[in-house]
Amino acid sequence: MNLPLTHPHALWAASCKLLALWSFHGLGEVMSGLILAALVVVFVAWQLRRNALRKLAEELKSSQEGAHQLERERDLAQEEVFRRLYEERELNKEKIQFQAQLAEYEKYAALARLALGAAHEINNPLLGILSHLELELRATSDSEQRAEIEQCIAGAKRISATLRGLVNYARPGPLVLSKISLHRLVMDTLSFLEGQPMLRDRQLENQVPADLPHIRADANQLSQVLMNLLLNAAEATPEGGQITISASKLTYVDSIEIRVSDTGCGIPPDILPHVFEPFFTTKRGKGTGLGLSISQAYVRSHNGEIRADSVVDHGTTITITLPIRQEAADEVVKEESQVVV
Ligand SMILES: Nc1ncnc2c1ncn2[C@@H]1O[C@H](COP(=O)(O)OP(=O)(O)OP(=O)(O)O)[C@@H](O)[C@H]1O
Ligand SMILES: [Mg+2]
Repeated sequence: MNLPLTHPHALWAASCKLLALWSFHGLGEVMSGLILAALVVVFVAWQLRRNALRKLAEELKSSQEGAHQLERERDLAQEEVFRRLYEERELNKEKIQFQAQLAEYEKYAALARLALGAAHEINNPLLGILSHLELELRATSDSEQRAEIEQCIAGAKRISATLRGLVNYARPGPLVLSKISLHRLVMDTLSFLEGQPMLRDRQLENQVPADLPHIRADANQLSQVLMNLLLNAAEATPEGGQITISASKLTYVDSIEIRVSDTGCGIPPDILPHVFEPFFTTKRGKGTGLGLSISQAYVRSHNGEIRADSVVDHGTTITITLPIRQEAADEVVKEESQVVV
């Protein structure tokens, strides 16, 4: 192998050859001293160059590491920017939702004030009219007059019932909480409604699991909500249709979800956003339009939520989400250890 002369091994070999030649020709020790000195110089120079190269390689390596570190920091900064953007977008979404909710509550509060005032103003004279009509009815034997008075009484009672509904909507009473088995509550509500003609020839199914965790709620209010939903479902479902109540515990939160589904006519998309508004009804002359709004008021007083999903000609599902426990302060708590319903 031919090594360059600057390499120490090649230099050593060449020097040895030269020394042998010189010793042979009798050139003296002066020359060998000179060669040794040259060798030392070359060796030192080679060593210096090697050190410089090693230092250069180390610098290159550390600058490469620095570059990697910078890349990592850049990636982290990018991730942080994306995370902040995402957070900002979520915050904006929440803000919009909150503003919409606030506007809805303001509307609700204004309506509630109006409703309570109107109910008070109407109810007192109405009670006077009703008792006067009942006296008249007792005093009359003429059948035609009796029929007219009876019609007036029915009308006045209807107004009174609407007012009661309105007051319930505007000011749901304090919660009377008890431990409730939803399966039993649904069973009781269904057996109470079974005799109603509008539920005849419709299949009613209680799919609420019997082992669902008990919830703390106002049994009366919850039962009224279920009745409102079941009556709506019955009115929308033709004979042979199906109405189902199901429920399940939600996975990540301490809440349950109750669903009342029917295979009825469904709600058109332009009507759907209005169904929880007080007095909104498509049953002219028959409905007051308070069923769903009262239900919403009751569910909200349990810190729950209610929503409607519907497909025209396929059916409607009303979903209620209720916390398993209640944290409201202005509640009346019934005997805790006992399951009331
Ligand atoms: N399950 C359902 N299927 C189809 N439409 C429904 C259903 N539930 C509610 N709706 C629609 O929502 C409207 C409002 O319902 P809500 O219960 O508040 O009042 P209502 O049933 O009309 O009257 P009320 O309950 O006071 O007798 C109904 O008139 C109907 O158009
Ligand atoms: Mg109704």
